Amino acid sequence: MLSDSRLTIHRFAEGGDSNAFASDVRAGLSATRKALSPKYFYDELGSRLFEAICWLPEYYLTRAESEILRTHGDEIVSSVDGPVRLLELGSGSAEKTRFLIEALLSKQPQLHYLPVDISDSSLELSSQRLLRLYPGLRITGFAADYFTALQALALQVPADPGHRTVALFLGSNIGNFGRDESREFLRAVRKLLRPEDALLLGADLKKSPDILIPAYDDALGVTAAFNLNLLARINRELDGNFDVGKFRHRATYNDDLGKIEIHLVSVEPQVVSVRALDLQVEFDEGETISTENSYKFDLEQLSAIASDTGFALANTWFDRARLFSFNLFVAQENA
Ligand code: AVI
Repeated sequence: MLSDSRLTIHRFAEGGDSNAFASDVRAGLSATRKALSPKYFYDELGSRLFEAICWLPEYYLTRAESEILRTHGDEIVSSVDGPVRLLELGSGSAEKTRFLIEALLSKQPQLHYLPVDISDSSLELSSQRLLRLYPGLRITGFAADYFTALQALALQVPADPGHRTVALFLGSNIGNFGRDESREFLRAVRKLLRPEDALLLGADLKKSPDILIPAYDDALGVTAAFNLNLLARINRELDGNFDVGKFRHRATYNDDLGKIEIHLVSVEPQVVSVRALDLQVEFDEGETISTENSYKFDLEQLSAIASDTGFALANTWFDRARLFSFNLFVAQENA
């Protein structure tokens, strides 16, 4: 734990994580339909590649989300009464969060910000930067996966008396969960909150594949590098011998299920060793590893998700082109 007067960081990611990575890689590469969890994209290089994705002209999500925060930030903040503390799940660089931090600091002199991120380095860097920018800020950070952080928050961080908690889950991170997983996660968030606390949920909207596909398969190949880095990470951390040149990135839109599906495709038959796991993995030509789903939503689905998980959808804000949505879920009494 790192602690000075305005910054405390609780670290949970390090030890347990490499074991979880090893056992998940073993299970994922031994399955009949090979799959790796997208949570493993975000090592230090992967986090930086994701930041680069957010700058791409094709990746409209970040710009649309920033536009909503820039245009409606004050209104969003004003829609929750009283002083608040801000909890952010998956804070990353916290660049977009600054709009809300500034809107809140114009209403209240001090703000307690509680960022959660799997990447220790992103958490540390972004926290130091925010503290330099905002003297009214105090930060309690969690370098952990969401569920570990939610448990730690419930046990270790008392509520700030007289303050509502506003939880943020931005960037359409909810889209990377499966249907049951997203509900399980939102119920866990609801459990931490009290009635009238709120969750501000960023959710990408259903739209034409002509816009969606390039967002996940950009001309510069940054998303391809982000995806392939998962194999490079296995090489680095588990002594694998993946030849990343023998795999290619694939992004398709599944219209029926409303999701982008991301795979790594083996371009030829090959056998890969992951020496730390004492594992040999055979690939046929064209065989894939599923690495990510990115669900897209409509308002009906978002409202159903809210009521299934102990919230009510109180308000939605859009960017001008209606590509992306911000949804205020208010915690209900009898959840
Ligand atoms: C983090 N998450 C919301 C991104 C998305 O759009 O699903 C991850 C991503 N994968 C490829 N590009 C971006």
